[in-house]
Amino acid sequence: MAEFEPPRIDLLSKDVVADPYPTYAWLLDKHPVCEIEPGPVWAVCRFDDVQFVLDTPEIFSASAADALYNTEAPRDERPPPRLISAQDPPDHGKYQGLVNKAFLDKATKPLIPLMRDTARSLLRQFEGPTPVDFVRHFTYPFVGAIINRIVGLEDHPQDPGELREWLLLEERVSLSQDDEAFNQAFDAAVARQNRYFLNVMNERRQRPRDDLVTLLVEAEVDGSKLSDDDIFSLLRLLVSAGFVTTVHMFSHAVVLLSKRADLVAELKDAPDSIPAFVEELLRFAPSVLATVRTTTQAVELAGVEIPAGETVVPLIAAANRDPSAFSNPHRFDITRPRNGRHLSFGYGIHTCLGAALARLELRIALEALLGSYMHIVCPPDGQIARIHTLFLRGITELPVRLY
Ligand code: HEM
Repeated sequence: MAEFEPPRIDLLSKDVVADPYPTYAWLLDKHPVCEIEPGPVWAVCRFDDVQFVLDTPEIFSASAADALYNTEAPRDERPPPRLISAQDPPDHGKYQGLVNKAFLDKATKPLIPLMRDTARSLLRQFEGPTPVDFVRHFTYPFVGAIINRIVGLEDHPQDPGELREWLLLEERVSLSQDDEAFNQAFDAAVARQNRYFLNVMNERRQRPRDDLVTLLVEAEVDGSKLSDDDIFSLLRLLVSAGFVTTVHMFSHAVVLLSKRADLVAELKDAPDSIPAFVEELLRFAPSVLATVRTTTQAVELAGVEIPAGETVVPLIAAANRDPSAFSNPHRFDITRPRNGRHLSFGYGIHTCLGAALARLELRIALEALLGSYMHIVCPPDGQIARIHTLFLRGITELPVRLY
């Protein structure tokens, strides 16, 4: 047991939002398991402990992910439970197994030509002396083109403004929302998104194709077809989880490279090192800072007793800088031994379904960028518009000059 009460750290305070890593380092050293704000919830920081939490669903249930929605609302007024990400065994495997085929290497490798062509054509907008918003004009359309192809939304292009509005709300979802204006805007955006998905689903019911929407409208779990709500839940998960996470990793890559002309030159000379750069970037500056679980029983971690029924937040980004797992953890080093051993795609049964796809997207787009440009100029850190929640860190607007 801890000998004294640790001070309550607020992981959304101004200083932490500006740079969370000094606070993570302090927590790792002084209080690797402790209660934090907002919440309070239990933060878990060490690499081995985070891995244990993610790998032990019988003690750390994923059903906590449903608490990310309006927990104040009565049960029957909340959106239906989220499939896959908020499920435990055995149900988790039944739904995960339905969609994972679409994300295996075998399915994503044929997308390389589409990725290359899309990246090259979007990068042409950056020719010229005026900075261009990399998020709006490169990553959103790039990631969108790939997700739309995989899921089967290509022939039903969605209004980019509506899509962005929904995704911006989706990524701001946090623990127990009691902000009425947010909840209303969120519910309206989800309802609009469901109507959009329903159009595509109905179209595929009439004219099946070889895509994920068709697979879902035809699929059965335990001998029953999926309901429309089930399919909405899966499509929302895939489109939102596949979008914002990857979009923010691109921004982190571009900002880092803008400060490291040496690395730009090195990667231009040796593009084979781009996958190692991507892995180190995932460890060093992940877009998913943390995830969430609920304890099904009392458990002791790092000498601290967490009671049953508590919300636990495994801090992936802190674990990735744990000095007992990584030497010189605050150094960005693409030659690090066992590069790739980070927790940025999670661990255990909920390991990211889109990890292979995200790695490929990052590699192909960075090859295209470094193949065309030598210099990357971003605004200074203090002027970058960030999104930072307990769970996500990213950039909402990034005016960039490339030449
Ligand atoms: C670099 C980009 C990405 C990062 C950093 C990332 C991160 C993560 C993490 C940390 C988890 C585990 C969450 C947990 O254990 O609670 C996860 C799960 C998931 N990710 Fe990703 N992700 C990325 C890209 C993608 C893409 C491209 C897709 C698909 C289109 C995707 C779909 C999913 C899904 C469906 C899950 C839930 C898996 C399950 O619960 O079994 N992600 N992701």
